[in-house]
Amino acid sequence: TWANVPQGPADPILGITEAFKADNDPKKMNLGVGAYRDDSGKPYVLSAVRKAEQLILQDKLDKEYLPINGLASFTQSAALLAYGKDSIPLIEKRIAATQSISGTGALRIGGTFISRFYPHAKKIYLPTPTWGNHNAVFKDSGLEVASYRYFDKSTIGLDFKGLLEDLKNAPKHSIFLLHACAHNPTGVDPTREQWDEISNIIKEQEHFPFFDMAYQGFASGDTNRDAYALRKFVSDGHHIALAQSFAKNMGLYGERAGTFSIITSSPQEKTVVDSQLKILIRPMYSNPPLNGARIASYVLGNSELNQEWLSEVKLMADRIITMRDKLKNHLVNDVGSKHPWNHITDQIGMFCFTGLTPQQVERITKEFHVYLTKDGRISLAGISSHNVKYLAEAIHEVTR
Ligand code: LMR
Repeated sequence: TWANVPQGPADPILGITEAFKADNDPKKMNLGVGAYRDDSGKPYVLSAVRKAEQLILQDKLDKEYLPINGLASFTQSAALLAYGKDSIPLIEKRIAATQSISGTGALRIGGTFISRFYPHAKKIYLPTPTWGNHNAVFKDSGLEVASYRYFDKSTIGLDFKGLLEDLKNAPKHSIFLLHACAHNPTGVDPTREQWDEISNIIKEQEHFPFFDMAYQGFASGDTNRDAYALRKFVSDGHHIALAQSFAKNMGLYGERAGTFSIITSSPQEKTVVDSQLKILIRPMYSNPPLNGARIASYVLGNSELNQEWLSEVKLMADRIITMRDKLKNHLVNDVGSKHPWNHITDQIGMFCFTGLTPQQVERITKEFHVYLTKDGRISLAGISSHNVKYLAEAIHEVTR
């Protein structure tokens, strides 16, 4: 029956982890997937999360089904974290929201909702480049996928002019996917002034902005600062959609805790949208998993745990910044690379878009057991002070 099913390719990001696991060399490094590691290279469970788990155990809670749209205390705290307590649509109860299977699930719910109900377009514009999974998520949601200019290879920075042109040239009411902060894979974000201008043009063109916020806290170490673009758009009156993930900033990767939310015009409209979100979710997975949402709601809802969590977010962000400095330093000062490596420290978030070509990536993996995605992206969280010099030597060797 299945004889004609073609073998599919490995996932460009998660497939790297599979290859890494199969490598027995002790020097191997996994810089593929964006998952935080501590300075000894170990996965890190946040202490606020451990404490929340203790409290949950003590409280002896049941394991009943969640409602279709998830744990209300979680979605409410998550909305507060993203939109901020002064957010007008939040205060006016105009934000429809549902728990999701982390950020990917949120994008998928949003994509499907838009494809069913957005009256103006069936095409979503994604930045070039963008997270490897965006394309597939939106295609499978029933949308057509197009791109807008974002990254300028020659400056290793933002192609702001190209971005604005593409916003202006797209038909009115187009759908644009924006990375709220810590753009994946480039680590290049617009400045505040640039965001303000992007918001103005999107307003003029009456485009529909869909924010993907998978790294709140990871860009600057401060969750409020990282919400600048999102909150600016909301205060400019955009009815945005938002995919939110707690995989990175709370280290809840495998717990799959996220939310999808969308701003509506009135509490009545919110109720209607909520009803359709439920109708869309029920046949997909019935209702979402409980554990991660419960942990996140304990962390967000308890002021002591919340403070501890925020300082741990900062700690993770700071360790990554330290790795950026060390990597650049080793490249420039120790191994004597003649290439400019300023982008390593200019870029922000979890990733560095190194500029390594696919051939160089292949070589560094084969000869040095350093695993990264083919586009040259490295997850800085996978580097530690023990192997950063080794990585610099390897990069130097393949870029000579
Ligand atoms: C990444 O970009 O590495 C992460 O978002 C993990 C993933 O699911 O791809």
